[in-house]
Amino acid sequence: MTALSVSTSSAASLRADALVIGVAKGPKGLVVATGAEAVVEAFEGKLAEVLTTLGATGAEGEAVKLPAPAGLKAPLVLAVGLGEAVDGPFGAEELRKAAGTAARTLAGSKKAALALPAASAEDVEAVALGALLGSYAFGAYKAESKAPVAELVLLTDRKGSKDAKAAVERATAIGEEMNRARDLVNTAPNDLNPKSFAAIAQAAGKEHGLKVEVLDEKALTKGGFGGILGVGTGSTNPPRLVKVAYTHPKAKASLAFVGKGITYDSGGISLKPAGHNETMKCDMAGAAAVFAAVVAAKRLGLQVNVTAWLALAENMPSGTATRPGDVLRMYGGKTVEVLNTDAEGRLVLADAIVRAGEEQPDVIVDVATLTGAMMMALGARTFGVMANDDALRTKLHETAGAVGEASWPMPLLPDLRKGMVESTVADLANMGERMGGGLVAGLFLQEFVAEGIDWAHLDIAGPAFNEGGPTGYTPKGGTASAVRTLVRFAEDTAAGK
Ligand code: BES
Ligand code: MN
Ligand code: ZN
Repeated sequence: MTALSVSTSSAASLRADALVIGVAKGPKGLVVATGAEAVVEAFEGKLAEVLTTLGATGAEGEAVKLPAPAGLKAPLVLAVGLGEAVDGPFGAEELRKAAGTAARTLAGSKKAALALPAASAEDVEAVALGALLGSYAFGAYKAESKAPVAELVLLTDRKGSKDAKAAVERATAIGEEMNRARDLVNTAPNDLNPKSFAAIAQAAGKEHGLKVEVLDEKALTKGGFGGILGVGTGSTNPPRLVKVAYTHPKAKASLAFVGKGITYDSGGISLKPAGHNETMKCDMAGAAAVFAAVVAAKRLGLQVNVTAWLALAENMPSGTATRPGDVLRMYGGKTVEVLNTDAEGRLVLADAIVRAGEEQPDVIVDVATLTGAMMMALGARTFGVMANDDALRTKLHETAGAVGEASWPMPLLPDLRKGMVESTVADLANMGERMGGGLVAGLFLQEFVAEGIDWAHLDIAGPAFNEGGPTGYTPKGGTASAVRTLVRFAEDTAAGK
């Protein structure tokens, strides 16, 4: 893992393999951002001209390397684009993206110094987080893979160095947990199953001093968790429900984060066609996100109680699998007719939401790669936010925006409820109308929320897994979608906001 530190050394004198600077698109061409003064000086005022000649414009995503002149200790300068030049400081998201692009571009090198604009603690945190996330690489199965840049030194002025250290620590806690979530998503489904995921949660919980409880298939049967059991029964890898609790002695509020953890979604008996299952190891991204969030809450020492619930199962077809037509008795007693075994996420979540509700948290937020329909509606990079409370839906949408995650509020249209509750044999069916499928899934989950508890549902089916190329701080594969939103939501709750 990349090590990140802060230094007040000048950009000219620090020994590193590369020196990273920011450039932006000004009205009259490329401009060099603050933080790079020593580099501008070493180029004797010709830096912008040289970069323009090399084709740089300052646009977002750009990364241009050039040999360093005498006067700089580093042999290489890397200029990364910050997008449009602005009058005041750059936005946090622009800084995160630029730092991410820099770290990704420098994979394979030992040490890089970041001389990006970072005047405030907030900016330092953005640069640090972007750099840590951008340096992420998943090499577990490759004989030869480029190692991430080993050491990143964030340059800041002496005045801000104390604040900067705290900002880097915060970014490190969030960044490392996000990278852990990405590892979990990227791990092949023959290695990550409910049991091994639970074991990882137990080990990490122990490392960070969190209380972890695992319900295995016996305990689930005894407890009557028909949803989780029904989904997991077709697999030789039995299901688990994992509870990870962080408590603060002075907490005034309690949050429950519930994650969909289908370690592989084949569709079950309602098997997915070829072309639709190659990426279905990502179907546990919600569980990975809530797990990362609770560990981050602990590492940040937030003054709020956070419990993560990981609803883990593998959805497979077999002679013991749930059939379309079967009726499951869910935790809490409601019955569900399974019309399509590929609508499995809502079944495991329903049990976990009922269980989470028993502890009377102030808010439940579930996170799930729940529906292809949500991807149809919002595209692959934006998650949908649904809730049983308008203020909470708005709050989560705004929180996501504040941390640089794209989301959109979606309505739980009462009109769509009919189709779903119209099972001829059970209280509910696990499917309703095809049109508006993302909302139908949300309406299904809402049925399992205890009276009086505010609940929100984040459908991350699109952004959880990046099938395109890497951009900014976002790699190919697992992205750790929703983690930052959950952490900021917990921080705001702790602060009474
Ligand atoms: N895990 C899928 C949803 C999904 C699709 C996630 C694509 C990420 C990318 C989910 O379990 C599923 O199969 N949903 C069905 C529901 C339908 C059968 C009602 C869907 O969206 O087609
Ligand atoms: Mn499915
Ligand atoms: Zn699924």
